[in-house]
Amino acid sequence: MRIHILGSAAGGGFPQWNCNCSNCYGVRNGKIKATPRTQSSIAVSMDDEHWLLINASPDIRAQLESFRDIQPQRGLRGTGIRSVLLVDSQIDHTTGLLMLREGCPFDVYTTEMVYQDLTTGFPVFNILKSWDGGIRHQRLPIDGTSLQVPGFEGLRITPVPLQGKAPPYSPHRNNPHPGDNIALYFEDLESGQSLFYAPGLGGLDENLAGYMERSDCLLVDGTFWREDEMILAGVGTKLAREMGHLPQSGKGGMIEVLRRFGEQRKILIHINNTNPILDEESPERAELVAEGIEVASDGMDIFLGARRPQTLTNNRSQKLPGRGPDLPGRKEAIG
Ligand code: MLT
Ligand code: MN
Ligand code: ZN
Repeated sequence: MRIHILGSAAGGGFPQWNCNCSNCYGVRNGKIKATPRTQSSIAVSMDDEHWLLINASPDIRAQLESFRDIQPQRGLRGTGIRSVLLVDSQIDHTTGLLMLREGCPFDVYTTEMVYQDLTTGFPVFNILKSWDGGIRHQRLPIDGTSLQVPGFEGLRITPVPLQGKAPPYSPHRNNPHPGDNIALYFEDLESGQSLFYAPGLGGLDENLAGYMERSDCLLVDGTFWREDEMILAGVGTKLAREMGHLPQSGKGGMIEVLRRFGEQRKILIHINNTNPILDEESPERAELVAEGIEVASDGMDIFLGARRPQTLTNNRSQKLPGRGPDLPGRKEAIG
């Protein structure tokens, strides 16, 4: 299984267009050692040919252009994206669907609650009906059962419901339901290796901890360093936990949580532009390094259960050795 990080920032990206906080100003003007990041999305593949897009970010167009493996260039119109799966209905995870309209129809997997938001508060399913019938909804279970997405044989996915809120625009924003937010547990059935992915993780329960324990790699919420980070930076009024994000520092924070797990690779993703860990020379970043916690960046690849192909680069155009002839199935992919 290969996991490619398309976007590692939280909503707003880094730098955020209207922000002059010390990070955004610093990266824009070369005052800090930091790398810009686009908004939250990953892609998963079992064969480097067919990709399952997890979340569709408003930055999707630039993300796809900077990742050649997802554009295998077969036929006049085509893509390596087979299907899309969403972990919630937030703006930073869903508005990219509008950019994919030229590829309709295609399958979009969401929970029932997310589907409700995406047919009411932000009715993207309704809007896209005018493009070749639009996007086909496939329902994600939230009762602990797993699913296999067609085209990704050998990949088992288990959605795990999280405590959290629907987005501000949602008709049920103040009435939380299971399925508003989920984590995903991905298993490579051939190697037995697994990934736990939760870009929004407000806290841990024993069910979640069980999945995390079993995972070889934890790709989890890196939004905020401090509980009151937005307030302290003068850019917001909400606490991290009110937004469904567990901050890294402090008692019961993500650093402490991750300490209880053993050998797993630990990577933070969905980093907000106010987070001091974005400054590679900050004491907060040094603390993560000392804890063995990595910070995801755009273009990063995670390989689980397969040897890293030797020729691999982010923007390679050559084919991997040992790969067969072009596969049929273009018609099932997003056109
Ligand atoms: C969040 O996860 O809280 C978001 O990044 C907020 C947003 O999209 O603006
Ligand atoms: Mn977000
Ligand atoms: Zn900022």
